[in-house]
Amino acid sequence: MRILHISDVHVQVDYEHAVWASIGWRRVVAQIELKLARRARRFREAPETLAALLREAEIGGYDHVILSGDLTALAVDEEFERVRKALGALADRPDRLTVVPGNHDVFTPGSVRKRRFEKWFGHLLHSDLPRYQVEGPWPVVRLLGEEHAIVGLNSARVPVVPGIAAGRVGDDQLAALIAACADPAMRGRNVLVVVHHAPLRPDGRLDRRIHGLLDADRLIEACRIAGVQAIFCGHIHHRYDYAIEGGPLIVCGGSSTALRREGYVLVDSRPGQNLVVENRSLERLRGEPEDGALPDPVVVTG
Ligand SMILES: [Fe+2]
Ligand SMILES: [Fe+2]
Repeated sequence: MRILHISDVHVQVDYEHAVWASIGWRRVVAQIELKLARRARRFREAPETLAALLREAEIGGYDHVILSGDLTALAVDEEFERVRKALGALADRPDRLTVVPGNHDVFTPGSVRKRRFEKWFGHLLHSDLPRYQVEGPWPVVRLLGEEHAIVGLNSARVPVVPGIAAGRVGDDQLAALIAACADPAMRGRNVLVVVHHAPLRPDGRLDRRIHGLLDADRLIEACRIAGVQAIFCGHIHHRYDYAIEGGPLIVCGGSSTALRREGYVLVDSRPGQNLVVENRSLERLRGEPEDGALPDPVVVTG
């Protein structure tokens, strides 16, 4: 099976002209962050880039797309709508697209209360093994053909204050992951987990507490027990893969739409074989040096 992995597309609306009084203090703080980090500039063309990389990947072909969260910048309806539009027909294909939310998709308590992510992407959150769902639709299990399964987990939590970007899967979902993987329907399948927060950084170390996955160790251990082959994630805006000895491979999709870092990951998965991971820059950028004037993306992620 050939998997197209994209992440952190961060589609945004034009906040320059928004009426801040009606938007709320969290987003005002976020606006400052957007400006300071030149975030707005970095993701200005996100919808066009997303559509372009889907077109490019379509030429080589793929069987399934994994989109590992941070679809939006501030979790407002207009952003979710623009993501849906940029995804085109793919947005209505649960058999071809697995999606999980990122911390930016639950940016405010209001966005969670109004269930905005579910409103725009709930039709993709159907599980083939619903008896293991413990937190809303999670875990979302997809049985793909006879040889593969994808398990989507939710690590996105509303931050206590803006600027905290940490995530947590939680013991209930981890126990459910182990239980689901022991189900007879999963026997003999390559199991791939999707979660927004990267459990480990490119150097194999845990991320900072204000940014990382707080129960990364427990997730990795649960994946070991469950025989999971790989964890697909994003949140850290670099594409990389990291092999944990005796454990799952971590595949981080980085940010597919960040200016001058646009790209995606292609993964070949065959039963009984190691995954083959290919990191691709968007065609028009190949050979171009990255813009050194931009701030370090690890600092501005979330
Ligand atoms: Fe992100
Ligand atoms: Fe994130």
